[in-house]
Amino acid sequence: MDMKEKIQKKFETLFGGEGDFFASAGRINLIGEHTDYNGGYVFPGAIDKGIVAEIKLNGTDKVHAYSLDYDEYVEFGLNEEDAPNQSWAKYIFGVCRETEKRGGKVEGFNTAFAGDVPLGAGLSSSAALESTFAYALNYLFNNGIDKFELAKIGQSTEHNYCGVNCGIMDQFASVFGRKGSLIRLNCKTLEYKYFPFDPKGYKLVLLDSCVKHELASSAYNKRRKSCENAALAIRKNHPEVEFLSDAKRVWLDEVRNNISGEDFLRAEYVIGEVQRVLDVSDALERGDYDTVGELMYQTHFGLSRLYEVSCEELDFLNKIARQCDVTGSRVMGGGFGGCTINLVKDELYDKFISIAIEKFSVKFGHEPKVYDVVISDGARKL
Ligand code: GLA
Repeated sequence: MDMKEKIQKKFETLFGGEGDFFASAGRINLIGEHTDYNGGYVFPGAIDKGIVAEIKLNGTDKVHAYSLDYDEYVEFGLNEEDAPNQSWAKYIFGVCRETEKRGGKVEGFNTAFAGDVPLGAGLSSSAALESTFAYALNYLFNNGIDKFELAKIGQSTEHNYCGVNCGIMDQFASVFGRKGSLIRLNCKTLEYKYFPFDPKGYKLVLLDSCVKHELASSAYNKRRKSCENAALAIRKNHPEVEFLSDAKRVWLDEVRNNISGEDFLRAEYVIGEVQRVLDVSDALERGDYDTVGELMYQTHFGLSRLYEVSCEELDFLNKIARQCDVTGSRVMGGGFGGCTINLVKDELYDKFISIAIEKFSVKFGHEPKVYDVVISDGARKL
């Protein structure tokens, strides 16, 4: 039975009848990590792993929600002050609230949903959930909220109900994702461009370290604060610097003694990464995957040594990729565990995967998981 059938069966048992189906996706990011909240570029795409939800209005002011994956049922009133305790239900609650804040109508509904985005792997299962519901409510209540605002509904849900001060990348990718294309987004101007991505002779593959760090959200928020500190210091000399991504490297050097060593390293990474996304775009236009890959390795170095969001397991996977002559490899997403993304030549693929699994297992006592990347559509009605 596929996911949709399972949901349908459960929905029928719990609520009777049938509703409409909506879906959205997790994401990968080729390059441009921790640049979104710094006004820089990102380069994500939606993937073929996501959330599917069946939804039907119930004529009350309550939401009745069932998560198949957690086998949990939650009810909440749309006028209640406090979000439900279950983290998955917080996302739905937040999306309802944030839709209303933007003048959208929301009334009670029944929903059953399930997903296949691996949790904690850095593939944005939460953005997939937020975008599914943001898109669905907009459709069902005919609210006419534009797509960027739908992405921001998800982002504000993270900020206001889940304690993560994230940027816009995940929700953007999840809402705007298109089959076969990556999207380069300028997070300051919100200009974006679709890049058809079909690197002949290469595969993109994720290796999931299966490591999840409990304190990831506070560490993430701390990185964001460091960037803001650095931008503030640079702005004193260069008032045009609105975001850290506006700063030149030499401007950072000018304030070296005015900010902490840690804030300096974080900013050094971000300024380098903003440029790397542009360099990757140029290289992609030329079909120059060696350069794309080399820049991915540079990003990994920066995320590991300067931004300090990697971990032993991810550094190990990155090192094995290098040893196996993989074209590009780096930790992907927020970090603190999760996956590496690898750009690997077709003929090296099998060898790389088997060596990575073997060496990783010997060192860490468990296998990494392997996900082939298929770039797919984002939020939609099924
Ligand atoms: C998480 C956040 C994004 C982005 C990435 C790092 O996925 O949700 O906004 O900052 O980390 O690039």
